[in-house]
Amino acid sequence: MLFNLNEFLIAVSYALDFVEMDIFGVVTNHSKRVAYISMRIAEEMELSKQEIFDVISLAMLHDNGASEKNLHDNMFNGNKKHLHLIESKKEHGIRGEENIKSYPFLTDVKNVIKYHHENYDGTGFFGIEGDRIPLMAQIIKLADTIELNSYLKEVYIEDKQRVQSFVKLHENTMFSPKLVKAFLNISYTPHFWLDLKDEFIDMSIRRNMPNFSMEMPLSKIHDITKVFSKIVDAKSEFTQEHSSKLTDKAAIMGEFYKKPKDEIYKLMIASNLHDIGKLAISNIILDKPGKLNEREFDIIKQHPYYTRLCLQEIKGFEDITEWASNHHEKINGTGYPFGKSGQELDFNSRLIGSLDVYQALMEERPYRKTMTHKQTIEILDEMTENGMLDQKITNDIKKVFK
Ligand SMILES: [Fe+2]
Ligand SMILES: [Fe+2]
Ligand SMILES: [Fe+2]
Ligand SMILES: [Fe+2]
Repeated sequence: MLFNLNEFLIAVSYALDFVEMDIFGVVTNHSKRVAYISMRIAEEMELSKQEIFDVISLAMLHDNGASEKNLHDNMFNGNKKHLHLIESKKEHGIRGEENIKSYPFLTDVKNVIKYHHENYDGTGFFGIEGDRIPLMAQIIKLADTIELNSYLKEVYIEDKQRVQSFVKLHENTMFSPKLVKAFLNISYTPHFWLDLKDEFIDMSIRRNMPNFSMEMPLSKIHDITKVFSKIVDAKSEFTQEHSSKLTDKAAIMGEFYKKPKDEIYKLMIASNLHDIGKLAISNIILDKPGKLNEREFDIIKQHPYYTRLCLQEIKGFEDITEWASNHHEKINGTGYPFGKSGQELDFNSRLIGSLDVYQALMEERPYRKTMTHKQTIEILDEMTENGMLDQKITNDIKKVFK
């Protein structure tokens, strides 16, 4: 399949927006502004097109480790104070570096995320000094520091001067002289600051971003999409293995139905990504011990909508998007969020939907213990009798996993 890295990055940035919606209640555009500033510095420093593309991706992903469960524990709906709190923890760099191992970078980007808070004089989290800090990490550090310490949604001349003085003041301590020079060169035009506004930031990145596509087998694309599922699964301790175990079961059923290899990989990718929309749902709801109230359940029902929003950006993912975002639909029309029914649900949508129920019931939840295969099957049977699930698929699941 011809895999477009730009479309993939847009999908990733949706997922990261969801994390922000959860943590802050709104999309802050923090990562996007960091990406834009990093891109402009990289252009100014004459990095290659491949390196520029990578620094944009990395900047977009630089705080991906922040969806970690433990970081949520201190969070409330809020403002930059909480962003500062996340950024002040070394762990988000380590976790973030780990999460993106399978991302399709074009150049060597080792340790860029891990070291994105290092100071040029060696006083950062890891004590790495000078040009031993990867250049892309230095670029992201500068962009990140500026973004965190200023209000870039609306900038006046005094604000611009303050940011520029701040950067100059920290030459040789936080930032290298080369970087300071590059920043001052790009930041003297009104255009730079206007591009950073909430309304324009998406376009500003898309306009300058180099375009890359790669011919890739679906097996490789499946590996790449693990970036998403790691971020999703890390969000709640109760769903840590949910996506990966669903993926295993989808593969087993695909083999059982003797489906072509490529279709099995698509099923696996869809399974891996089906709950990506949960990134937009608060952990307070996801991890709530006890039954959800009406309002909370109504919010939970949004997650497959967000799954669709994110995946539909990627050309070649049409089937995957369909199957993944239909996983809570029911044949009798009682599912969510689209209320699809009957023929609107193709075989693979039904398959993933049934397997999701089966897998979820076998896992522990805050409000109940794990169920046995037998108890799980009883529930599947009941749902099938009620017209929610596909009879044949239920029978086959019984056969295959007994
Ligand atoms: Fe950070
Ligand atoms: Fe950041
Ligand atoms: Fe779900
Ligand atoms: Fe699920």
